Amino acid sequence: MTREMMLGTQAATVKAAPAAALDTIVADVIVVFMTEGGVAAGMAAEVDRATGGLLTRLADSGDLTGKRYETVPLLAPPHLKAGQLLVVGLGKREEVDLGTCFRAAATAARIVAARPRAKVAFLRESFWSDAQAEQAVAGAITGMVGQDLYRAEKKRTPFGETLWIGTSTEAVARGTILGDGVNLARYLVNLPPDDLYPESFAEQAATVAGQTGMEVEIWDEHRLSREGCRAMLAVGRGSVRPPRLVLLTYRGRGGDTPPDLALVGKGVTFDSGGLSLKPSEGMLTMKCDMAGGATMLAAAATIATLKLPINLVAAIGLVENMTGPAAYKLGDVITARSGTTIEIHNTDAEGRVVLADVLDVVRGLGPQRIVDAATLTGACVVALGLDVAGLFTNDQPLCDAVADAARAMGEPVWQLPMFPEYDEQIKSEVADIKNVGEGRWGGAITAAKFLERFVGSIPWTHVDIAGPAFAEKPKPWIDGGGTGTLVRTLVTLAQRLSQ
Ligand code: BES
Ligand code: MN
Ligand code: ZN
Repeated sequence: MTREMMLGTQAATVKAAPAAALDTIVADVIVVFMTEGGVAAGMAAEVDRATGGLLTRLADSGDLTGKRYETVPLLAPPHLKAGQLLVVGLGKREEVDLGTCFRAAATAARIVAARPRAKVAFLRESFWSDAQAEQAVAGAITGMVGQDLYRAEKKRTPFGETLWIGTSTEAVARGTILGDGVNLARYLVNLPPDDLYPESFAEQAATVAGQTGMEVEIWDEHRLSREGCRAMLAVGRGSVRPPRLVLLTYRGRGGDTPPDLALVGKGVTFDSGGLSLKPSEGMLTMKCDMAGGATMLAAAATIATLKLPINLVAAIGLVENMTGPAAYKLGDVITARSGTTIEIHNTDAEGRVVLADVLDVVRGLGPQRIVDAATLTGACVVALGLDVAGLFTNDQPLCDAVADAARAMGEPVWQLPMFPEYDEQIKSEVADIKNVGEGRWGGAITAAKFLERFVGSIPWTHVDIAGPAFAEKPKPWIDGGGTGTLVRTLVTLAQRLSQ
């Protein structure tokens, strides 16, 4: 692996600073947040005073509104020791939540990072809670990193130094860890498939585990075979890159009790579709098919770095789905690790086959609950669009907890039903189940129904992130590519479970 790891790269450069007179702050850029119509409130009012009414004049002329994610760069602001003042809109004050703070700060950082900056000062908005400040710090860290890994001419340059004026050291430290976690997931998703394959992903996971004090176990193809992971091995057989299973353990609560939470991720490092080959357009972005695995590695690393008092395992099933001479075939019947037999009707429905074994391994560890994340179905994108993840569960309270955490973080999710009628659709004539439903309708649900077969009676929620995991186009607050979706939600979930 030639490219640098993202985890912890920003930690040394992001600092808390005490509230200070604005005309004493030395920085290339000062970022100030402003609510809609809020030129006379909070830090905007202070900046307005310090600049001799600059913001009021712009508000009066309609050039500055404070609408959500509006950015107004003001060059050479009067009386300030900064080359630029950037005013970022927060929208209506009563609607400002944790997600708004994250995205507003990310929007600002993304614009400012378009050129190299030695020092950028963010003014913590006075009405923010510490939790909101923490999200803003995290947002700024994601905003200043793009998808430039392989570009000579960078579109974003991380700031030499970031100052969070008037923000507590703890909020800055926690926000930095969180932002680094999101960036780790984005980084892994953005790596091209010939650089990130099962073995190299597993190496990255081992490095991250070492940095964050997690135990790591990596099962190679021989161990997978001994463990009976025939479903994972079947999917991997078409590739020259052998599969890997990554098992991470973090014991923040101490004791040798079963995990409070198990995180399971789909790690298909490239999905060609296998013999049920994808058309070129559909295949182009399939390096993102390990996003669930990246999310779970990043979430576990973040939880461990934050030292949350929870016992956690994360399991990532890594395979490359290819068409090599040994590739698994349509009509094959695979006996999964659990003993359930699976008839293969479509080799492009590989994620559920991989997860069958990973879920069974995790089930054997006896966790209190399982959450999995997977770029599992195009059908989920058809149902909910690109920005919304699908939720599926066998346990409503757990699903509600995931949905509440996601709502708090501003990461849109929507639950889809798991009516028993759908079970009919995955029945097979020759095996216990088949790996697709009847036709394409309700494909996200039949996929979830398939997974449900492998979790037994353990409370479980499946999150289909096929839509939000990867963005082909940028948004105001994030460049295109991997989005790191769900990392903040899962960290919040772990935080709440450990209280
Ligand atoms: N990795 C894909 C799902 C996907 C689609 C992720 C679009 C991200 C964006 C998955 O392995 C897949 O190919 N699913 C098939 C299932 C079908 C063959 C039953 C699909 O959704 O078409
Ligand atoms: Mn597929
Ligand atoms: Zn896939």
